[in-house]
Amino acid sequence: MHTSNPDLIPEIIEILRSNNRVTVLTGAGISAESGVPTFRDAQTGLWSKFQPTELATPQAFRQNPKLVWEWYTWRREIIKKALPNPAHFALAEMEKLFPEFVLITQNVDRLHRIAGNERIIELHGDIFRTKCSVENIAVKDWPDKGDIPPLCPHCGGMLRPDVVWFGESLPARILEAAWEAASSCQVFLAIGTSSVVEPAASLPIVALHNSAVVIEINSQDTPLSGIANYSLKGAAGDILPRLVSGLNR
Ligand code: OAD
Repeated sequence: MHTSNPDLIPEIIEILRSNNRVTVLTGAGISAESGVPTFRDAQTGLWSKFQPTELATPQAFRQNPKLVWEWYTWRREIIKKALPNPAHFALAEMEKLFPEFVLITQNVDRLHRIAGNERIIELHGDIFRTKCSVENIAVKDWPDKGDIPPLCPHCGGMLRPDVVWFGESLPARILEAAWEAASSCQVFLAIGTSSVVEPAASLPIVALHNSAVVIEINSQDTPLSGIANYSLKGAAGDILPRLVSGLNR
């Protein structure tokens, strides 16, 4: 395992250059430089007394649906104003450089799509989609009667964001596609994720077992740092553009 040495960047560029199949997993850290709060860094202001990991659960929604809906409304407002940062744009450029490139993200903020990536597997859903908490079907419009959360126009059940909460299963089709991308790649990049939430945390391990070179990019140590082939410490918005400009030369 190699760590944090800036001299490693040319070595990693060579590894990327000599392979075709690249899979990337991103987490909240890649959007931090766009101003979107991560899950495990302390919250500030209005929501500082709540733990995000305790709001993003079915139990929290059952106990206090208004609180959870309002937290997501707050997050949506922040995300609406956020723009992709140099890390997102670097990954969009990377997609064009590799014949087989898959981007798996745990983020629900659409910033990869806005940056230009097309082959994206969204593991945890999309914060701008809404579904009925009873029927589990997508709902696009509802009459605004002042209820918080608003109610489903078909069955009157409470609406909720179409995201995956802690303790909920990922849609099977999406998980299978992510597993396939992790097990068939030659290089796997894990970027800005704390690597503690399953099943996403297992994807780099699957890649390692299938002989891929696993490279972590994170501003801090994670459980993956000691297992990955390379662990680069630093901001994704700094490291990724350097990797991609090396590939372009
Ligand atoms: P976390 O908030 O757990 O972790 C963010 C990671 O990004 C941390 O390891 C930080 O060190 C790192 N980081 C922060 N800023 C960075 C930067 N500029 N460059 C590089 N790294 C940076 O977010 P996730 O790992 O995405 O799921 O969390 C996984 C899941 O847990 C989320 O998708 C969400 C949450 O509960 C659900 O809601 C189901």
